[in-house]
Amino acid sequence: MLSWDDAEDTTETATAAEAAPAAQPAAAPVEPEASVAAARMVSSADSEAVARAKEALNDLDIQEGLDDLEGAAARVHVGDKMMINARADLNQLVPFKYDWAWQKYLDGCANHWMPQEVNMTADIALWKDPNGLSEDERRIVMRSLGFFSTADSLVANNLVLAVYRLITNPECRQYILRQAFEEAIHTHAYQYCIESLGMDEGEIFNMYKEVPSVAKKAAWGLKYTRSISDPQFQTGTVETDRQFLKNLIAYYCVLEGMFFYCGFTQILSMGRRNKMTGTAEQFQYILRDESMHLNFGIDVINTIKMENPHLWDAQMQEEATQMILQGAQLEIEYAQDTMPRGVLGMNAATMADYLKFIANRRLVQIGLKEQFPGVANPFPWMSEIMDLKKEKNFFETRVVDYQTGGALSWD
Ligand SMILES: [Fe+2]
Ligand SMILES: [Fe+2]
Repeated sequence: MLSWDDAEDTTETATAAEAAPAAQPAAAPVEPEASVAAARMVSSADSEAVARAKEALNDLDIQEGLDDLEGAAARVHVGDKMMINARADLNQLVPFKYDWAWQKYLDGCANHWMPQEVNMTADIALWKDPNGLSEDERRIVMRSLGFFSTADSLVANNLVLAVYRLITNPECRQYILRQAFEEAIHTHAYQYCIESLGMDEGEIFNMYKEVPSVAKKAAWGLKYTRSISDPQFQTGTVETDRQFLKNLIAYYCVLEGMFFYCGFTQILSMGRRNKMTGTAEQFQYILRDESMHLNFGIDVINTIKMENPHLWDAQMQEEATQMILQGAQLEIEYAQDTMPRGVLGMNAATMADYLKFIANRRLVQIGLKEQFPGVANPFPWMSEIMDLKKEKNFFETRVVDYQTGGALSWD
């Protein structure tokens, strides 16, 4: 623990008695500007390097940086703020326009967790026991870690290299910074599992290139990052605004809102059966973060639509629907690859129903029509974990758990 009493330079600090000014005739007050100018003057006591630093600052033009930001000279008014293409100064956090974004930032911080807090001892014993898990169960663990260990990096890179720059609202950027750190924690969690279980790291981290059902999902996401990550890319035309909107739909609705669902369901189902409980606990914390990312993304997408209704024409709606259907199809193929037979009380057919149910939800959340009418949720227990209505209680539980270091229970 740092203490200010331990600061190294205390020995050189004058004592209170020494520092107290001796009785001197009262000096005339010096204007702050004059005293700043005096401090800037090069004196004979300055080294050549210090003198150069002072002189360089004489040329600093405070207007120069601000000229790039239109409207920066003025105080920001809520009405100036927009999700994309805003002219208001992005360095002024308040006044908030989107209170929901700030609230999500606070909620994310309240749910902070780290992978090392989770006990992996039982998982290590089970994984190393040749009779501990069936081949089908082992395949599920390997594939999940294989996809997720790189998928969270894809999401983080897309956020930092593409999305952050193009969202022109400071409270949303604040949440995006929090989300980016959470993605780093997720990648850390997968690495922690891979390392704890003594898996072949090369095999796991290359799965996103080498195993077709995993590679296709990664390639589908990367296509949308490529379209906007060029530093020259700018929004501001109908075409580029739509390109950006498609990136948000690809990442928030499909990658984070669909591509994680088969693997999450499989690993959480394992935890419910008292197997790989440490890994499952890591995944449960990640899933809670992910449902917040998804909800944030849905709010951003719907705000862009509301502020720019011309972007959301029939063709764009058709393209967005197609994107979600493609995502569902790729996830169904992943389910088929990871579950050639029934395992853990589920199989590829029930998972396909679940993914269609999720696809319907994503469509409705961004104002589109359901494409799989009447499909029911075969895994209602998943909703128990992440249903919006339960979110608050779930978070409250987590905060207590975090403070006491207790483990989640699988009841
Ligand atoms: Fe993540
Ligand atoms: Fe995420």
